[in-house]
Amino acid sequence: MNMNQPIEKTREIILVADDDAGDVAALGRLLHPHYDVFAAPSGERALQIAAGIPKPDLILLDVLMPEMDGYEVLIRLRDNPATRDIPVIFISGLDSIEDEEKGLELGAVDYIAKPYRPPIILARVHTWLELKRSRDRLRDQNAILEAEVDKRLKENQQVQGQLLHSEKMAAIGQLAAGIAHEINNPVGFVTSNLKTLDIYKRDILEILDTYETLEAACAPDAEALLKIHALKQQKDFGFIRTDLDQLIAESQQGMARVAKIVSDLKDFAHAENKEWLWADLNNGLDSTLNIVRNEIKYHCTLNKAYGDIPKVYCMASQINQVLLNLLVNAAQAIPEKGEITVRTGQEGEEVFVAIADTGSGIPAGNLKRIFEPFFTTKPVGKGTGLGLAISFDIVQKHKGRIEVESTVGKGTTFTVWLPVNSQVEDAARKAS
Ligand SMILES: Nc1ncnc2c1ncn2[C@@H]1O[C@H](COP(=O)(O)OP(=O)(O)OP(=O)(O)O)[C@@H](O)[C@H]1O
Ligand SMILES: [Mg+2]
Repeated sequence: MNMNQPIEKTREIILVADDDAGDVAALGRLLHPHYDVFAAPSGERALQIAAGIPKPDLILLDVLMPEMDGYEVLIRLRDNPATRDIPVIFISGLDSIEDEEKGLELGAVDYIAKPYRPPIILARVHTWLELKRSRDRLRDQNAILEAEVDKRLKENQQVQGQLLHSEKMAAIGQLAAGIAHEINNPVGFVTSNLKTLDIYKRDILEILDTYETLEAACAPDAEALLKIHALKQQKDFGFIRTDLDQLIAESQQGMARVAKIVSDLKDFAHAENKEWLWADLNNGLDSTLNIVRNEIKYHCTLNKAYGDIPKVYCMASQINQVLLNLLVNAAQAIPEKGEITVRTGQEGEEVFVAIADTGSGIPAGNLKRIFEPFFTTKPVGKGTGLGLAISFDIVQKHKGRIEVESTVGKGTTFTVWLPVNSQVEDAARKAS
C-alpha cells in the first residue's frame, strides 16, 4: 500500500486520519484499488498532510484520537484557506445523534458510525468525490468567465476612451477650423490695409515735406506760419513722424503673428486627418509649440535644439497630436519655474523628437502605468489620463516607439522614435 509517500497525483487521494493502525489498514485495503491512500496516525499529522502537496481530495477523519480529536482537526482545516474546501467524512465509534450533529455542524459533509459496512464507505466516498469534482469544475469555469468578463470590460473601456478622445479632438478641430476661418478674413484685409496705409503715410509725408519747403519762402513772422509752428510743437510733430514708421512696422509684425497662429490652428483642425504624407517634424514642432505657447510661456524657458532631419512619411496631424500631448504634460509637470528642452535628430533610418522637462518626474511605480488609458495623477478636470495612451497608439501605428526616462524631483524625457518611412519597412518585412 502506498502510504505517506509523496506521489504524482494521477488518481484521487484519500487521507485516512485514525490513531488505530488496524482501522487504517482496513480502510486502506478497501480504498486502495480505486484511490491513492495517505494515512495520518494523529490529528497534527493529518493537518500537515492536508496542507501539503499533493493535496488530498477527501479526508476520512476519526473523531476519537489522543491529543487532538477529530472535531479540533476539522475546525483547524476550515480555518486554513488551503484546506478549507477539502470534504471531510467523520468515521466514529461514537454513534449518538448529538455526536453526529456536532460533526455535521462543524462542517463535515458526512458522518459514518463504526462498525461500518464497506460498500457504504465506498459509495459515500464516491459520491462526495463526484460532488467535489463538479464543484471544482464550476469554480474553474467561473474563474475563466470572470477573467474573460474582466478582459472584455477593459477592452470596452479602452475603445470608449479612444472614441471619447476622437470626439473631443473632432470637436476641438471643428472649433479651431471655425475660429481660423473667421479670423482669416479680417487678418487678410487688415494686413493688406496696413500695406496701403504704409504707402499713404509715405505719400502724406512727402506732401508735408513739400509744404515745409514752402515755409522757407514765407516771411518768418507771417501769422499763418507762426500758427503752423505752434501747432507742430503742440502735437509733437517730430515724434509723430518717427513713431509712424515704428507703429506701422509693429502692426505688420503683429498681423504676421496672428496669420501664423491662424495657419497653425488650421493644421491642428485637421488633427483627425489620417492622411499619410511626407512631413517635416521640425515644422510640426513649431506649429504645435505655437498652439501650446500659452501653457508654457509664463513658467517655462523653452530651449530648442533642432537637428537637420529628413522628412518623415507619417500622418502628420496625428504626430502633431503626440507632440502636443507630450508638451502639455511637460508644462504641467513643472509646478513653478523650469525648462523644457526640445531636441530632434536622426540615427540610421530613424528620426527622434525628445521632449525633456525639469519637472516633478515620475515615481517608478507609476512609470509602468502611464500609458494605460485613464491613468492620471492629475486632479479631476485637469487630466483624463488619455494623452499618453493615445500617443502610444499613434506612434505604434507608425511602427515607432516612445521611450521614457525620469528621475523624481529632477525631470522627465520622453523620446519619440519614428522610422523615416514605415511603409518601406512594412514592404521589406512582407518580402522577407
Ligand atoms: N512629463 C511628465 N512628468 C511627470 N509626469 C508625467 C509626465 N508625463 C506624464 N506624466 C504622468 O503620466 C500620467 C498620464 O499622462 P497622460 O498624458 O496620459 O494623462 P494626463 O496628462 O493625466 O491627462 P490628459 O493628457 O488626458 O489630459 C499623468 O497624469 C502624469 O502622472
Ligand atoms: Mg496629458
